[in-house]
Amino acid sequence: MKIDVFCGDFLLKKSDFCVLTHREDRKRFQGSLAAADKAMEGAIEETAERKGFKGSFGTCIALTQTSFQSKECLVLGLGNKKELTLDRIRQLGAKAVQTAEGAKAKRVVFPIADLQDATASVTTREMVHALAEGVLLAAYRFHAYHGTQTKKSNGKLSLKTVTLVVEKERDVKFAEEAIQAAEAIAAAVHLTRDLVNTTSADMTPSDLAKAAEAVASESPDISCKTLSKAQMEKLKMNAALAVARGSVHEPVGVHMTYTPPGKSKKTVAIVGKGVTFDSGGLSLKPAKGMESMKCDMAGAATVIGLFKALQVIRPNVTVHGIFLAVENMPGAAAYRPGDVVTAMDGTTIEVLNTDAEGRLTLADALSYATKQDPDMIVDLATLTGACIVALGDEVAALLSSDSRLAKRLLDAAEETGEPLWELPLRDTYAPLMKSKIADLKNISGTGGAGTITAALFLKPFVGDVAWAHLDIAGPSYMERVTRADIPYGGTGYGVRLLSRFLDKL
Ligand code: BES
Ligand code: ZN
Ligand code: ZN
Repeated sequence: MKIDVFCGDFLLKKSDFCVLTHREDRKRFQGSLAAADKAMEGAIEETAERKGFKGSFGTCIALTQTSFQSKECLVLGLGNKKELTLDRIRQLGAKAVQTAEGAKAKRVVFPIADLQDATASVTTREMVHALAEGVLLAAYRFHAYHGTQTKKSNGKLSLKTVTLVVEKERDVKFAEEAIQAAEAIAAAVHLTRDLVNTTSADMTPSDLAKAAEAVASESPDISCKTLSKAQMEKLKMNAALAVARGSVHEPVGVHMTYTPPGKSKKTVAIVGKGVTFDSGGLSLKPAKGMESMKCDMAGAATVIGLFKALQVIRPNVTVHGIFLAVENMPGAAAYRPGDVVTAMDGTTIEVLNTDAEGRLTLADALSYATKQDPDMIVDLATLTGACIVALGDEVAALLSSDSRLAKRLLDAAEETGEPLWELPLRDTYAPLMKSKIADLKNISGTGGAGTITAALFLKPFVGDVAWAHLDIAGPSYMERVTRADIPYGGTGYGVRLLSRFLDKL
């Protein structure tokens, strides 16, 4: 599916499906909608009245016949102008695709002059970027496991082109640039979604490492080094290695580096949790809790997707992408509750629950990250079920030792529409993670605040580097669908947020 730009009269542009918009704060139809309604001798207005359509956000009406060059048309409610955020624009693009797809349309025409008018506070470029993102993110499909029975009915997207129609010649260039940028970001998000959706049998630690190498091979700005199990042993990554011991799949460390073409202003390390399957280990998860645990490498998949986006964004910062890919299984050699492991930095950890494995792998990944001399470290991890209890499946948690870094991430989240909420990294809870027989234990056992105590466990491993932790257990994987631009399964949460964050540094 591609998006293109056409300057001219949308009524004359042949298509299967025309998307129009109506603002709630306008009594009468205006702009493109008024033109279409006039061409149809008031049929749209008549339908709107009959259906009680006022243009509030999230509502729409559809007409399966028109008297202009589109076969069908859809009118989307924009809501009130002052509430029309870029995230709402993104949702409109997604909704247009979802509805057009339901109508089996191949070609869609979408006049955007009224949207430009309704979002006067942002540039055409920004508006089109959000709209195109919505369109592209909603056009994601994952077919890898559809067999003969479902292939036909659940086949390819019918949509071939979405043509954005502008009225002024000078907007063509802005719109085309925005579409190009949105395409690059969407491709990165789609890669992350694919990696997460691929089952653990097909996405072992070495498969995940190969995916990182493939991204690096696409760009001269990106290199990728992998650490074998033997190299991880040499580096004394015993916490991560302990997690991997119960699996037949060997662990792999991955270190990607993006070096900017210009002068590098800062160095940032992005660390992802890369547990390709989390059975819980000997502290085995119940069946229900295990069903979606192929998603436990979403942090690492986000790192890989982010590097794909970096190929195009090319910010002036050096970026290290780091993850230790392991599988958490209860094999005969598995680590046990009660074991004490010594992490890369010498910290000893009493393992009381083998299902709190993410923090063990991250401990070593974070120690390794500090060795790259970064100005800041951001980690992403599907770390705690407690995070879903606290914030639900739409919102990620942010915990940070640095308020400036936290602010940058919250701003980037706001701007990209990826919900993020800060939780306090309260030092007073740190004693909950102290062990009687070792330096730390990997679960608190009492006191609640599971997301905070997990973050407090990680904190010592970053030393004094400015650090932020994103617990993405909720939004990285959706079991229910709430919006057309966020699919079932892997969502690619974080790719857009971090791309924006790095771009603005
Ligand atoms: N991978 C899970 C967290 C998770 C749960 C991610 C649900 C996505 C959806 C993590 O390794 C885990 O099992 N955490 C435990 C920690 C507990 C043992 C302290 C949890 O949240 O129950
Ligand atoms: Zn676990
Ligand atoms: Zn896990």
